[in-house]
Amino acid sequence: MCLFHYHSQQGNMAIQNIYIYLLGFLSISYRTDGYYEQVVDECRFTSKDLQDAEFIRSYVFNMVEDVRFNSSVGEYVGYTELGVKNAKAWNSDPGELAGIRAQLDSYCRNNAGIHYSAVLDKTAKPYVRMSSVTPPSGRHTAMLMCSAYDFYPKQIRVTWQRDGHEIKSDVTSTEELADGDWYYQIHSHLEYTPKSGEKISCMVEHSSLPEPMVYDWDPSMPESERNKIAIGASGLVLGAIIALAGLVYYKKKSAGVL
Ligand SMILES: *[C@@H]1O[C@H](CO)[C@@H](O)[C@H](O)[C@H]1NC(C)=O
Repeated sequence: MCLFHYHSQQGNMAIQNIYIYLLGFLSISYRTDGYYEQVVDECRFTSKDLQDAEFIRSYVFNMVEDVRFNSSVGEYVGYTELGVKNAKAWNSDPGELAGIRAQLDSYCRNNAGIHYSAVLDKTAKPYVRMSSVTPPSGRHTAMLMCSAYDFYPKQIRVTWQRDGHEIKSDVTSTEELADGDWYYQIHSHLEYTPKSGEKISCMVEHSSLPEPMVYDWDPSMPESERNKIAIGASGLVLGAIIALAGLVYYKKKSAGVL
């Protein structure tokens, strides 16, 4: 059985900060009343060139690690009495040592390439929407929200512009929120006092985009609002016509015309 597990670190830019552990559970056997022996292979690296790649093999018995091979150390190190004994035996076996030392290349480099092409190099473009929201009581009368959805990887920059110049003040943002399906979303808020003729825009920069995307705020009413008003107005006109027809009918009937 083989299991690949990714652990991503929060932090700076892109792939440099994603630690990848390729864990191979070589043998697991347990009974609830018995013993638990576990051998875990792990590849750790922080950059695509695998400069700092490290191969670790741990032998764990009943949750206690006995002995570990770390490719940066180059030989086995024992931590328990049994582990020390095994480390000594395995380190004095040239065949065993050559085999485990080769794992960094054969196991880690091979799988890392697969994982970069299958997942880590992939990107998904954000879907961006702007909306007007109620401002908190403060010195500004309006607040806009710029939301980016379904992007990958996590690193993104959402900024605001007035007539093409970045607005730095009165901007707040959520963190990049994980959707739990590898995608992220983020919401940036701008509090401002609208002036006629100005153009407010939201700019999104992300590794999936060849260049930054700029979205201009359209202060006219959103379509859904316009539709609500149109439907309401139609209802009003229709109601008035029916009422008028009823009135005419009533008047004529009471006058004895019908
Ligand atoms: C492997 O050994 C290197 C060098 O001693 C050390 O810096 C690193 O933390 C070790 N890695 C693990 C997972 O123990």
